[in-house]
Amino acid sequence: MTQSLTIARPDDWHLHLRDGAMLQAVLPETARHFQRAIIMPNLVPPVVTGAQAKAYKDRIMAALPDGMSFDPLMVLYLTEDTDPEDVAAAHASGLVKAVKLYPAGATTNSASGVKDFDKVRPVLDKMAEIGLNLCIHGEVTNHEVDIFDREAVFIETVLDPIRKANPDLKVVMEHITTKDGVDYAKSNEKNLSATITTHHLIINRNHILAGGIKPHYYCLPVAKRENHRLALVEAATSGDKRFFLGTDSAPHVDPAKESGCGCAGCFTATNTMALLAHVFEEEGALDKLEGFASLNGPAHYGLPVNQDKITLVKSDKPTVFPAKIESGDGPVTVFDPGYPVYWDVK
Ligand code: NCD
Ligand code: ZN
Repeated sequence: MTQSLTIARPDDWHLHLRDGAMLQAVLPETARHFQRAIIMPNLVPPVVTGAQAKAYKDRIMAALPDGMSFDPLMVLYLTEDTDPEDVAAAHASGLVKAVKLYPAGATTNSASGVKDFDKVRPVLDKMAEIGLNLCIHGEVTNHEVDIFDREAVFIETVLDPIRKANPDLKVVMEHITTKDGVDYAKSNEKNLSATITTHHLIINRNHILAGGIKPHYYCLPVAKRENHRLALVEAATSGDKRFFLGTDSAPHVDPAKESGCGCAGCFTATNTMALLAHVFEEEGALDKLEGFASLNGPAHYGLPVNQDKITLVKSDKPTVFPAKIESGDGPVTVFDPGYPVYWDVK
């Protein structure tokens, strides 16, 4: 029995492409299925200015294999020194679709992020004025706050004050991992959406820690308890337009993950659409997959829906995904859901 589902070509509203040899290796994995992606700026050094975003975009387009089409939507990394006028110019030229707020120290390459939120207020005001979206990594970095509570504390102590001070600013809560995140996104009627990753729909914290430590399931924000995963699945599959896909596919070479101090990040670019079809089918919500992966994101960003389509096919044999992608820097392990998946993109 073959079952198939055709949807508008999806977009990824949170993606790490890196640079150099890694960029070369992972870009086709995304471009094969996705038309556009919001490109995270946490390179070393970070993509802070419009000129840096332009140069990075050029490197991405140069790495795109012949015959593939892909539109990188560039993002500026917000620092306490970011110039509101540079941001406005990069937006006006059409280059930049968002600015990214990392609380300093929250995750991989976030040392240049924001410590004093008052210092970035002029940039946020300018963004609200010109309708430019703010993407937020929503975790506090205070060492006294338990890592499993950092998202909920961020919402209360940082996000809500930013929203109240600037209700006209368009915000995406990125890669939410908690019921608190879902509830907060739902409690706001305007200018607030949330992305959800593929892996947070599939794993909870037991997958990382029970029965031996699994470094390839470690990412930030870290996966939480099962009740939080269930809240994410409910939100993603509900059809609520405020929730859409941002894979946060974040490649690290295996030695950097399988280490005494392993890097955070799950690499899901290769099999995301197949895994999502599985998750949505389990919920009896295959008809909501197009909204989540292809429609709700463009609606938040005020962009057109892709004209192209992709078709997902379910067969009676489990799909074989590559275990690893080879890059010039070393192997990258592809996210393993831990169960057979029968879907694939045709
Ligand atoms: C990301 C990375 O590796 O750049 N890691 C991750 O666990 N998601 C950074 C991030 O988005 O937090
Ligand atoms: Zn990320």
